[in-house]
Amino acid sequence: MNNILSRLRETAEFLKGQFEHTVRIGVVLGSGLGNFVNEIEVEKEIDYHDIPNFPVSTVEGHKGKLFFGKVAGKRIVAMAGRFHFYEGYAAADVVFPIRVMKLIGVEIVLLSNAAGGVNPDFKIGDLMIIRDHIGLSTVNPLIGKNMDELGTRFPDMSEPYKNYLIVKAKEVATRLNIDVKEGVYYAVTGPTYETKSEYRMVHILGGDAVGMSTVQETIAANHMGMHVFAMSVITDIGLQDSFISHEEVLVAAKAAEPKFAAIFKGLIEIV
Ligand code: HPA
Repeated sequence: MNNILSRLRETAEFLKGQFEHTVRIGVVLGSGLGNFVNEIEVEKEIDYHDIPNFPVSTVEGHKGKLFFGKVAGKRIVAMAGRFHFYEGYAAADVVFPIRVMKLIGVEIVLLSNAAGGVNPDFKIGDLMIIRDHIGLSTVNPLIGKNMDELGTRFPDMSEPYKNYLIVKAKEVATRLNIDVKEGVYYAVTGPTYETKSEYRMVHILGGDAVGMSTVQETIAANHMGMHVFAMSVITDIGLQDSFISHEEVLVAAKAAEPKFAAIFKGLIEIV
């Protein structure tokens, strides 16, 4: 059997043995957004180190734990800490947990990230619902022999972020009186932040925000027919800021975290 497939199945079986309930909703918490775990009525938490075949996150601000539990009465599985391509993982490793989620029954994935704003209407602390992405500046995780058991060779990407989830999230935001933007996420590999010319390029090419995650996971999820919703917290404005640091990105993400958490929680309640 294909090596990745057998590892995926082994990990899924391990997790099913750890948590007896089926879970329909998966959540990935981005940089500085790990406090969302406080919203979870935790039933089981597992360190990534203890999960067979899971890579281990190396970035500060990521907890590296998988949480099973309830949010707004719904069972979810949440990743506090994700795997980034810039850490040196193969694209297939970056998407490994998303694929495992599918194998344990997850149908809807909610992704989050910190991103740099390039839309001139954006400011630090804004939330941006990702309507679409541009992923051509990163590595497609489906490159290689197709795993037909997971999905088709040439997946459609006309609606990578499900419109019905975007509509519901906007309803939640309106009800809670939280301002949300909507836009296109432009994925880069990192780990450098962009030069001024690169931020300008991202904007000219149609991006509203730029970041180092999410797109590979979204591609893998779409390949397997999962429904994706994703939201960015705008943590810096590359064309205006004179210096960008990871610390500043984490501080801005943490400051916006309560708004982000309220929307994710509200969305989980109604999907
Ligand atoms: N660029 C890329 N990734 C990011 C940024 C950025 O400005 N901010 C947070 N993640």
